[in-house]
Parts: sequence; structure tokens; C-alpha cells
Amino acid sequence: MSVIGTNYLGATHAAGMAEFGHHVIGVDIDADRVKTLNAGESHIFEVGLEPLLAKHTATGRLRFTTDYTEIADWADVHFLALGTPSGPGGAADLSQLHAAIDRLAPLLHEPCLVVGKSTVPVGTALALEERIRRLAPAGDAVEVAWNPEFLREAYAVEDTLRPDRLVFGTHSAHALEVLHEIYSIPLSDRTPLVECDIATAELIKVAANAFLATKISFINAMSQMCQAAGGDVTLLADAIGFDKRIGREFLNAGLGFGGGCLPKDIKALAFRAEELGVTVLSDFIRSVEAINDGQRIELAELAIAQASGDVSGKRIAVLGAAFKPGTDDTRNSPALTVADRLHESGADVRIYDPQARLPPREGFTQVASVEQALLGADIVLHLTEWPEFRQLDPERLGQLVKKKVIIDGRLKLQAASWRNAGWKVVQIGRAGSL
Ligand code: UGA
Repeated sequence: MSVIGTNYLGATHAAGMAEFGHHVIGVDIDADRVKTLNAGESHIFEVGLEPLLAKHTATGRLRFTTDYTEIADWADVHFLALGTPSGPGGAADLSQLHAAIDRLAPLLHEPCLVVGKSTVPVGTALALEERIRRLAPAGDAVEVAWNPEFLREAYAVEDTLRPDRLVFGTHSAHALEVLHEIYSIPLSDRTPLVECDIATAELIKVAANAFLATKISFINAMSQMCQAAGGDVTLLADAIGFDKRIGREFLNAGLGFGGGCLPKDIKALAFRAEELGVTVLSDFIRSVEAINDGQRIELAELAIAQASGDVSGKRIAVLGAAFKPGTDDTRNSPALTVADRLHESGADVRIYDPQARLPPREGFTQVASVEQALLGADIVLHLTEWPEFRQLDPERLGQLVKKKVIIDGRLKLQAASWRNAGWKVVQIGRAGSL
């Protein structure tokens, strides 16, 4: 089989498929990335990925190429694992998918199955199938199925090898059979399986991400309520989370959601819902989005308020740049939005992250340690909750800063121990901290 696209999703999927015993060729137009992957190394920080790549490039079950002719008639299944970033107005930009199809399809002489894993607006798969059949010498013998991916960055390998559930969106018995064969290992482990039509499969994925985003925005709206009324959002989340129908996961209040998936997927869902006239959904999603955007603004405003309304010339230490812990991914990172805003307001921002390496960017300096970030700081912001930040020693760090003020944007620090060391700790949605 081939896996087209080798970023977080594609590289992990290719390695996971090799672990399931399949022979896999990953394809990417980025020659440097292909070279790295062929050396059994990972171009991204993802726990467990590199050992799997090393193992299967060595077993010979996995290799990577830039050349579509190598995969065209060799593989009978082609997985599409390309990015679908936000385009104009929030619509999903499908250009990477279209470009891959336009490269692959004219080379397809034999019957095969093209399986989409990318997150796409409902209706995309069938349009792609039409496009492929028009371009491929094999014509209608090429079929499309949709098998959305639910992996989380930082747990991508685990989620690929032991998924919560599988979704097979097909329109033929043959395609269904092929997917059953491919996933025989997790299926024999009783992984729940939903077999459905292709449109439902496309929608399941965006609905899952929209629901997760909704949980986060709900708890963040409640955190505003706690702030206004003098309550504690963490205790509130614990208490409602004990109700099994609600569950505690994805009820961590703070800076809100970022990354390469949730923000762009809900935008694309709202856009598609509007196109189809389902404004009840687009309005709902847009308020989820507005709450999320508001948290970033609120956090930056809190920092500005701590500097008596003016951060210009103030030194601000930012702990965390990745959109969440466990990854080096900074796409749509809430931490960077806040850092940018403070820089624009004139602050001297120093940022530290254990994994994320930022390209040189105007305005703030990335430093190599927490200590370097904090030296002489007027305000410290905790914006990505890496576990190592919970182990920091507030006593020792207190000697480095100019002012002992920390804003915990993720509500994960032990506020009491920081306060005991003389720090002012500000946490959105926790009474007594403002
Ligand atoms: C998300 C979904 O969780 C995956 O199931 C899905 O497959 C993936 O998108 C995708 O579409 O590819 P991911 O982007 O890796 O995965 O990140 P999440 O773990 O969902 O976290 C998203 C954001 O929500 C992060 O910024 C995180 O800090 C934030 N978050 C999460 C909260 O603010 N509060 C919470 O309680 C949980």
C-alpha cells in the first residue's frame, strides 16, 4: 500500500501500517523529509514514532519516495494523508489533495482503492472519486473510500496502533472487505467499528473535533462565569466530570484549543454548514470559535493589567510555545498568539519551550532554558502545560525575576506553593487569584 503525505498523520499511519504487517511506501514531494524518513528518523517530535520508523525501514516493510510512478501500479491501496489547512473564509483548502490526485491518477492503470484519511468537508470524497476516474486510465476500476483518522498528536503512535474506534465509509462490498483486511489486527482486538456511507464517514470526523472544541469552549465560558461570580472552574470541572455522561476529559479550562486540527476543522465545518444552509450549526460553531479566540485576548489583557495597563519595555517570560505539551507543533498555538499580542504592545518577550523550535521571528527571542526566559522578567506566563513546568522550584526562580508575578494560562501550577514562595499567581476562572 502507499501512504501519500508524510506529515504527523501520514508518517505515523505509514509506520503503523508497517507494524500491522503491511508493505508500505510513503510518498512526499519534500525530498529532505523523504531522506530523513528513509534513514529511519523522524522529522517531527512524536513519542514512539522514530523507533517504529527505524524498525520498519530496517525490516524492509517501509520506505519513502518522492516518485509517484513507484507507487502507482505497485500498490493496490493508496491512503491519502494530506493536509487540509484553512483557506479563504475558513473553507478547507483542498489543494494538496487535488495536487496529489492529479499526480497519481494518470498513472493508475490497474484497479485500486484510494482511501482518504484527511479531514475534509462532506462531499469531498465523491468529488475526488469523480476527478480520479476522469484522469485514470483504469477509469471506474478506481474506487474511493473514507477512513477518517482520530489520532492525537503526542499520542499518535498509540492511537494508530490501538484506536478507540474505526470508521469505514464505503460504497461497495469490495472496498469494505479491503479495509477489513488492512485493519485485521485492531479488529481482532475488538476495536469498535462503524461501517457507513462515505458522507457519514466524512461528517463523523468533523463532528468529533467540533464536539471536543465545544467541550473546551463550554468550560472556558464557565470559567468566565466563575471569575465574575467568584467560583473555581477547576473544582467545577472535577465535579461535573464525575457524571459519566459528561466525563472529565477536555474540560481543562484556560487558554483554549489550538493546533493544526481543531481550529481549522471547526472553521471548515461552519463554512460547509453555511454552504448547505444549515445555519443552526454554523452559528453554534462560530460561538465555540469566538469563545476560544476570546480566551487568548483575555490572557494577554490580564498580563497587560498586571503591568498597570502598559507592557511596553517590560520583560515577559513565556513558558511554552507548542500548542499543547508532548509535541513540537506550534500551528495555531494559543501561546504564540498571546506572545505576539504582547510583543505588539511593546513588551520584550522571551519564550522557552522544551521541544518547539520557532523559526526566527520578529519580536521575541527564543531561549534555551526556563532560567534564561525568567532572568529579569516583570511577568511570567505559563501558556503550555509541559509536565516539567509543574516541577519548577518557585523559591529558586523567584531570585531570577524582577517581579514575582506568574499568570497560569493552563491552570496546572500548584498555586499554593508559588504563593508560599512570595509569588502573585493569577489563574483565569479561579476565585481569589485576580
Ligand atoms: C485533535 C483530536 O483530539 C484528535 O482526535 C484528532 O484526530 C486530531 O485533532 C485531528 O483532527 O487530526 P490534536 O490536534 O492532536 O487532536 O490535539 P488535542 O489533544 O485535541 O488538543 C487540542 C487543543 O485543545 C490543544 O491546544 C489543547 O491544549 C486544548 N485543550 C485540550 C484544552 O484547552 N482543554 C482541554 O481540556 C483539552
